[in-house]
Amino acid sequence: MMEWLLVPFAYLTGSVSSAIIVCKLMGLADPRENGSGNPGATNVMRIGGKKAAAITLAGDALKGLIPVLIAKVLGVDTMVLSAVVFAAFLGHLYPVFFGFKGGKGVATSLGVTLGVAWLLGLAVSGTWLLVYKIGKISSLSALVAAILTPFYVWLIVGDVYLIATFALISSVLLWRHRSNIQRLLAGREF
Ligand code: G3P
Repeated sequence: MMEWLLVPFAYLTGSVSSAIIVCKLMGLADPRENGSGNPGATNVMRIGGKKAAAITLAGDALKGLIPVLIAKVLGVDTMVLSAVVFAAFLGHLYPVFFGFKGGKGVATSLGVTLGVAWLLGLAVSGTWLLVYKIGKISSLSALVAAILTPFYVWLIVGDVYLIATFALISSVLLWRHRSNIQRLLAGREF
């Protein structure tokens, strides 16, 4: 029963918005009020460049990775693991520390995939990188990676709770990117 405490813990780690903290510490503009308005690595790149974006990406991935790794070390079953995965993702989207207004969940979902299985994380990040190399558009890379993630989970992990959880995460991720999708369709996304 105690292992379920990992779920609120994951939500709390997910709620730590790296973008907002990094921008504040580095004296950069608030990502919620500048660029796309999204507190995520892509928007931090627009506001503060590569270094700030890399730290944001690492922070947001780690906050997903850490609770999942703890859960795995403790040997929880896949139902609890799935809840931990989703809680970290949800924390990023609706952070308790920042008025429940968070990001789109790309880096955090990458972190949780790495925690679930390194090969899964490699497949997801490889997909993102490949699409980015071709199209040079962060949101497009995230959307393609998100669509493929549940299939990767099915192939690499094969657990029904995790497949369902990542299908849900991908659906939410697509919904969070709805303004990006509109811009992509209009050819106005860069
Ligand atoms: O990681 C979020 C990315 O996919 C899109 O970010 O700032 O272009 O809306 P942004």
